[in-house]
Amino acid sequence: MSNNDNERVALAFSGGLDTTVCVPLLEEEYGYDEVIGVTVDVGQPAEEFAEAEETAEALNLEHYVVDAKDEFADLCFDAVRANASYQGYPLGTALARPVIAKAILEVAEEQGCTGLAHGCTGKGNDQLRFEAVWRDSDLEVIAPVRELGLTREFEQEYAAERDLPVEGGDEGKYSIDTNLWSRSIEGSELEEPSYVPPEDIYQWTTAPTGETEEIQIGFEDGYPVSLNGSEMAPVELIEELNDLAGDYGVGRSDIMEDRMLGLKVRENYEHPAATVLLNAHRALEDLVLTKEERAFKKQIDHEWSEKGYQGLVNAPLVGALEGFIDETQTRVTGTVTVRLEGGQARPVGRDSTYAVYSAEAASFNTEDVTGGIEQNDATGVAKYHGFQERLANRVIDSQNEE
Ligand code: ARG
Repeated sequence: MSNNDNERVALAFSGGLDTTVCVPLLEEEYGYDEVIGVTVDVGQPAEEFAEAEETAEALNLEHYVVDAKDEFADLCFDAVRANASYQGYPLGTALARPVIAKAILEVAEEQGCTGLAHGCTGKGNDQLRFEAVWRDSDLEVIAPVRELGLTREFEQEYAAERDLPVEGGDEGKYSIDTNLWSRSIEGSELEEPSYVPPEDIYQWTTAPTGETEEIQIGFEDGYPVSLNGSEMAPVELIEELNDLAGDYGVGRSDIMEDRMLGLKVRENYEHPAATVLLNAHRALEDLVLTKEERAFKKQIDHEWSEKGYQGLVNAPLVGALEGFIDETQTRVTGTVTVRLEGGQARPVGRDSTYAVYSAEAASFNTEDVTGGIEQNDATGVAKYHGFQERLANRVIDSQNEE
C-alpha cells in the first residue's frame, strides 16, 4: 500500500494509545510521507491537551490545535431546544464528532493533505460519525485500527517495541471521552451490565449529600441565556453549571445503549449542565406550548435526537425539524427555578410572559379571557362525555347475554 510517497495525512490526534500508534502505521503501512496531528478543543480538560502536546513532541509530529468550543456549545444549545436525549444520554460525544471532523478537514485542506485518518475501532459509533463528514471530500479516508484489526494488546506491545510515548497507567483502564456536554466512561469491568460502578469513575459529580440549592435559568427563544440573573455566553454557562450542579451529584446516567451497528453496550456518563438545562427547558415548554404542540414536538425531538446520535446534524431532515422547533421556541422565553438536590435537578418554579395560563380562568371568575363562559356551560359537555363508551358497553353486554 505504499503509494502515497510525498503525501501528507491529517490524523485526528488525542495523544492516547490508539492515535499514537496510528502515527508510525500511517507511514509504514499506508506509505504516507508525513503525518500531521490535529486536536480539536471541544472542552476537554487541560491535561488532555498537555498530553497530546507532549506526545506529539516526542513523536516529532507536526501538531495543530483548533478551538471549536463556541461552535460546539451552540450545537449543544440547539440540542436543548430539541430536548435531545438518546436512551437517556444527552449526546455529548455524538454531537462533538461532526464539529471535530469538520475542523480536521479544514486543517487538512489548508495543509495540502491528501488523506484523513482516525483511530476509531470498527465497533463503535465514532467511525461512522467522522466518516459521514470526511467522505464528502476527495481525500482518502483511513481507519488504521479498524482496517488492520488492531487490538489494545497489540497496540501496547507495538508501542513498547518502538518506545512510543504512551502511558499505560490509570488512563488505560477505562476509555474516557470528555467534552463540554458530557463525560463518558466505558470499558474494562464497566462493560458487564451487572457490575456496579465504583464511585471513582466519576470526576464531575460527587455523591449526593443532603444539601440543596435553588438556581434560576433564563431562556430566550429556547436558548439558555442566564444563570441567577447574570447573562452568560454558552461555553461559560455550561462550564459554570457543570461545576455547580456536579456538587449535588446531578447528571449521572448508567444506561444500556443500542449502538448504530446494533451492539447493545453498557454506558456510564456524567453531564450536570446538560441535565439542568434540559430539565429547565422542558419545564418552560410545558408552560408556554399547547397540549397538541407538546405532544407533536415529542416526535420532532425524537427524530432530532436520532440524527444527533448518528452524527448527522447536517441532514436536510434536521433543518426541516428545526423549522418546526424555531416556530415553537419564539415563546420559550422566561425563567425556571431549579432545585439541585440529591442527584436531581428538579424544576420547582417557572415564569414566562407567554404562559398559557390565566389565574381567573383556572379559578372560574367568569368575567375574563374565557369570553363569558360560565360554569354551567360545562353541563352539556359532561352529559356527552363517555357517551360512545356507554353505548359500546351496552351493545357488548347485550351480545354476551344472548
Ligand atoms: N457511546 C457513546 C456514543 O457513541 C460515547 C462513546 C464515548 N467513547 C469513549 N471512548 N468513552 O456517543
